[in-house]
Amino acid sequence: MFTPLSTLSPIRGQLWKLASGFALLVHPRHLARKFVRCFLLIQYTVICWCARYYRYCNTPAELVTAVEMALRGLVAIITGSSSGVGAGIALAFSKEGAKLSLTGRNLKNLEEVVKDCKKAGCQDVLTNVGDITQDAFRKTLVESTKKKFGKIDVLVNNAGISSLCPLQSATKDQYDRMMALNVEAPLFLTQLAIPHLIESKGNVINISTAGTSTIAPGGGVYVMSKVALEAFTRYLAQELATKGVRVNTVNPGIVPSQMISRIVDDKGQAAEVEKAMIKATPMGRACAPEEMGHIVAFLASDKAGFVTGESFRADGGFTMTTPAIA
Ligand SMILES: NC(=O)c1ccc[n+]([C@@H]2O[C@H](COP(=O)([O-])OP(=O)(O)OC[C@H]3O[C@@H](n4cnc5c(N)ncnc54)[C@H](OP(=O)(O)O)[C@@H]3O)[C@@H](O)[C@H]2O)c1
Repeated sequence: MFTPLSTLSPIRGQLWKLASGFALLVHPRHLARKFVRCFLLIQYTVICWCARYYRYCNTPAELVTAVEMALRGLVAIITGSSSGVGAGIALAFSKEGAKLSLTGRNLKNLEEVVKDCKKAGCQDVLTNVGDITQDAFRKTLVESTKKKFGKIDVLVNNAGISSLCPLQSATKDQYDRMMALNVEAPLFLTQLAIPHLIESKGNVINISTAGTSTIAPGGGVYVMSKVALEAFTRYLAQELATKGVRVNTVNPGIVPSQMISRIVDDKGQAAEVEKAMIKATPMGRACAPEEMGHIVAFLASDKAGFVTGESFRADGGFTMTTPAIA
């Protein structure tokens, strides 16, 4: 039985409108149209999503994790990436979706690192082989990175050397070599990168050592150079803060590397130095290079967007309790 519209009360009128609207909605013709639209929308979203992330992913599992990559699409220069800590940083950055500009002097080692990075999902890798203490090479590194990728977001000043030499007998040559690589090279390489970092609102990470918070006998000149690097971090962070560029330091404890295997104690035994450092580390182990790389990746990412001028110790508790290595 039908009710004439004119006799409906306002509330019953609303109910009537709702009911007729619903009837239209579920009418097979409308339903089919909505279903097709909905299907096309989902398909379009999936295709866009895949197209966007395909270049960073090798497997469907990586496709899912790609969404969470902290450095997705960022371009990073990592000095000293042909071995040790630098190779670990390159690997961690690869897994976080960065595009890499890697550099060192040993081509064979660098090629091995590139292979590992590609396996880890990074398809965009540039390599430059050369001596970072040379002006011309630093210029080539920055210019070629900008040319290949169009921008520079992160600079990791990692290349460094150490040798045990008590201050009383340190030679001018030892001092010059450590200062040239650990202090001068980061300063003048960073200067070249600054205009690009300002453009990208990027950041710089300098690799120092946990040794700057303690005493490692024989490490005087090395630690002097790293303290200078930390001063460089703070002053540059202050100069660039208003330009949106962050500058931080990471202070590693022991990480197995060529540098560690080259440092020998007074009995001429490198392995003993490593053992003593691990013994002095409350966590009782060394840090894997890639594990250190993930700390650097965190500081380089937007997740650390409010951190600048900071020194971030990652030393398994080495400097928490230990005044010196015996
Ligand atoms: N390993 C640790 O326990 C530890 C602890 C605290 C701090 N760190 C710091 O971590 C950084 C990396 O050290 P690491 O232990 O990984 O040492 P590493 O294995 O000896 O690596 C040093 C890197 O620097 C590069 N390099 C050295 N001299 C260079 C030069 N003149 N021009 C260009 N590249 C040069 C090396 O490249 P080539 O081999 O290709 O020449 C290599 O890639 C250093 O700054 C170090 O002070 C390390």
